[in-house]
Amino acid sequence: MTHEFDSTSDSIKTDIEAEPFALAVSPAVCPGDKPADPCIIVIIGASGDLATRKLAPALYKLYINDRLPDPFLIIGCGRTALNNESFRDRMKDALMSLSTVDVAPWQRFAGHLYYQTLHYDSLQSFKDLARTLKETDAGHAVGGNKIFYLATPPFLYKTISQMLVQAGLSGEGEEGSGWTRIVVEKPFGTDLQTAVELNQALLEGFREHQVYRIDHYLAKETVQNIVVFRFANAIFEPLWMRNYIDYVSITAAETLGVEHRAGYYEKSGVLRDMFQNHMMQLLAMTAMEPPSRFEADMVRDETGKVFRSLRPFPGENPWENLVLGQYCPGLIDDKKVSGYREEPGVNAQSFTPAFAMMKVFIDNWRWQGVPFYLTSGKRLAKKLTEIVIQFKEVPHSVFRHILGEHITANRLTLGIQPDEKITLTFQTKNPGARVCLRSVTMDFSYSRDYTGPMLDAYEKVILDCMNGDQMLFWRQDGVELCWSFLTPVLETCEFCSERAAHLHFYEAGTWGPPAAREFIKASQLKSR
Ligand code: BG6
Repeated sequence: MTHEFDSTSDSIKTDIEAEPFALAVSPAVCPGDKPADPCIIVIIGASGDLATRKLAPALYKLYINDRLPDPFLIIGCGRTALNNESFRDRMKDALMSLSTVDVAPWQRFAGHLYYQTLHYDSLQSFKDLARTLKETDAGHAVGGNKIFYLATPPFLYKTISQMLVQAGLSGEGEEGSGWTRIVVEKPFGTDLQTAVELNQALLEGFREHQVYRIDHYLAKETVQNIVVFRFANAIFEPLWMRNYIDYVSITAAETLGVEHRAGYYEKSGVLRDMFQNHMMQLLAMTAMEPPSRFEADMVRDETGKVFRSLRPFPGENPWENLVLGQYCPGLIDDKKVSGYREEPGVNAQSFTPAFAMMKVFIDNWRWQGVPFYLTSGKRLAKKLTEIVIQFKEVPHSVFRHILGEHITANRLTLGIQPDEKITLTFQTKNPGARVCLRSVTMDFSYSRDYTGPMLDAYEKVILDCMNGDQMLFWRQDGVELCWSFLTPVLETCEFCSERAAHLHFYEAGTWGPPAAREFIKASQLKSR
């Protein structure tokens, strides 16, 4: 298969026929995704938002696409007193609120669902769970394999993990006990100290290979594709460095506001909510060195080196490299939306930032001096996650006597969402008698020419966890390194006396505060 540029549509065309003198390339072959080991998934917090909105749909979709192991069972646990039937009804309602559910597959799926009430502060309750697990396991020949998925508010992680350990539920490897894994969602702590404490609590009874710390951004197809794009193609990597790249811009813009999560968001703000995790992973995938093999620990060793090389923020004046903002009322999709301070549950004088732009540097040989602009915010003009690699201008213009010095530099854009794509902008000659340059864009859409099933992020993480693949999960050192970088910034922002002066307001539905645009313009002028 060859890929060639189609100049008429500015797109990449897939041509199955080999060129006459080139070797034909075989189409990609992917191994099947169905996990081999049977297992029980214990969802702790099964009546909550995460379980009903994300986990139930993901598990159901995996089930109807025949991607779950055989046998598999789901035991929902929570403080709410439910029985198997009422739990199944809740799950069904949750699925039906998202799409239609056919009766026959639902009934088969429902036969795998069970419920047990669990009081998080009662060891006896966890011992009861241990007994249920043992009986269920024996009754269905699961072989002792189990996943504890903590779908609870994060403040409960420590307690639940300790209870699981004390109830003898964290062990694995002894005869008949199979494997045991525990899944936790971000936020992993709220600063360096709390992250260290949480990790200590988890690692008191579980070993690192049993702990799956989810970052759903890592499970997005196009985020994984960054690594494939960089390391399965020979032509980009030699340019992927300070000699050719002017700057890198990573954006995760949302149109959503804080929704019903003010209780969490007021304490977290955009830096904890998006930067400590998703933005750092996007940065690491873009900047890391090639691992010698595509294996979980080798990839995580490389991302860890990026985190370790982050230049600490200027202590006294973080504002040189940071713009914070908060949205005011405005229009999203032509509908009026409230400002952050008017959202239910938000303090009317809140200083919590819902927007941040941060300039970071990676102090290593490859990236010395290249600014990485990280931007994320709520209630912006468009839902857009993308990585822009802005190349430098040509060192010398041979067209200067005709066109002047400036020639628009090349730009590569990796679109993560909503458009999953890769585009490359370059110069061509405008057809005609005179030499005139024209910027054109070569684009590749991720789903074009692909008709197979797509896994959403939660389906992917559940499968990976069942398969024991930790590639897309945070390792403890990465979590702590990112907090080490961000905690001083947070402390300065949160305790600084000019906090109010550094919070820039923006109208909802725009691209953030004007101060952010001025900041980026000024930084780019300075670097010229
Ligand atoms: C979550 C944040 O981790 O990511 C949310 O807590 C944010 O505040 C969400 O809205 C964005 O995820 P996505 O996949 O919609 O870009």
